[in-house]
Amino acid sequence: MTAPYRVFVTRALPGNGFAQLLEDPAFDLDVWPEDFPPPRDELLARVAGVDGLVCLITDTIDGQVLDAAGSQLRVVSQMAVGVDNVDVAACAERGIPVGNTPGVLTDTTADMAWALILASARRVVEAAEYVKDGEWKTWTPTQIAGIDVHGATLGIIGFGAIGQAIARRAQGFGMRVLCWNRSPRPKEAAAVGAEQSEFDLVLSQSDFVCVSIALTDDTRDLIDARAFELMKPGAILVNTARGPIVDEDALAAALRDGQIGGAGLDVTAVEPLSMDSPLLTMDNVVVLPHIGSASMATRGKMADMAVANLRAGLAGQPLPNSVGS
Ligand code: DGY
Repeated sequence: MTAPYRVFVTRALPGNGFAQLLEDPAFDLDVWPEDFPPPRDELLARVAGVDGLVCLITDTIDGQVLDAAGSQLRVVSQMAVGVDNVDVAACAERGIPVGNTPGVLTDTTADMAWALILASARRVVEAAEYVKDGEWKTWTPTQIAGIDVHGATLGIIGFGAIGQAIARRAQGFGMRVLCWNRSPRPKEAAAVGAEQSEFDLVLSQSDFVCVSIALTDDTRDLIDARAFELMKPGAILVNTARGPIVDEDALAAALRDGQIGGAGLDVTAVEPLSMDSPLLTMDNVVVLPHIGSASMATRGKMADMAVANLRAGLAGQPLPNSVGS
C-alpha cells in the first residue's frame, strides 16, 4: 500500500468534502485545531514534508513556507477566491499549482455588498442600536433619516463576476449603474444594464461607490485622497473586496471632513480592525468582520472546492479551479 498523502489544513473546514477527507485512509491530515491561524513558527514546522497544504486568507503562504514544506509539495489549495496572501509567483517558480474557489461565492458576496449599501444609506445599524439603547421615545419627522437607494446612481469599481452581480441587483432599485474595470467590459456592462465609464466619472457621478476589484500592486490604495475628493458630498463607499484597496487614513479624513457621507466596509486594511481606529467612532460607518461570503451554504461549497483542488493537485491532475496558470 502506498503511503497516505500528508496534508496540513490550517483550520477545520465545513462541508462534506472535508468530512470525507478526514475518513479517507489515503490522507494523513494534520488539522490546526484553533480559530486563530497557526503562528508562523507552527506553520513552518507543520508544513515540513507535506504533499498538500490547505489554507485560508489569514495565512501568509510565501517562499519561506514553501521551502519549509519541501520539494515534494504538490498543491496549495486556498479556501477563498482571493489569493493575495499567497505568493503565487513563488508557487509557480516551484511548479506548485494554487487552487482557489471562484464562482460559488459571487452571489453571496454581492448580497453582502447590498446589505452594506442599504444599511449605510438607511442607517440600519445606528437605528437598531438606538432602539437597544432605549433612545426610542417618539417619532419625529427627521429621526434617523438617511438617503434613498432607489433611483440613485451606483458606481462599481471592478467589474468581474461579483461586480456584475452587484449591478444586476441594482435593476430592482431602478438605479443608474456606472462601472469601471481595468480592461473595459462593455458587453458585460450592457448585459446587466450598466454603463461602462471612466474611473474618475464613476467616482464623481455616483451616490454609492462599491469596490469589487482584486487586490494587486496596481490596486493597493486605488481609492485614495484624490478619489475621495472626486466623490459627491454625501456619497457612500462600500468595500467588500480587500481593505488595502482603500487608503484608510484618507477614508477617515474624508468622513471626518464631510467630504463623503458614509462607508460600509466588510474588509479593512488590517484585519481585525484595531479598536483604536477612528472609523469605529463614526456613526456613519458600518464595519463588518469580512463576512461577505459567510453563508453556511456558500462556505460549505468553498470548502468542497478547496478539497477538490487538493485532491486533483495530489493526483497530479489539473486543478478544477486555480490561479496563475
Ligand atoms: C475570498 O474568497 O476571497 C473572500 O474574501 C473570503 O470569502
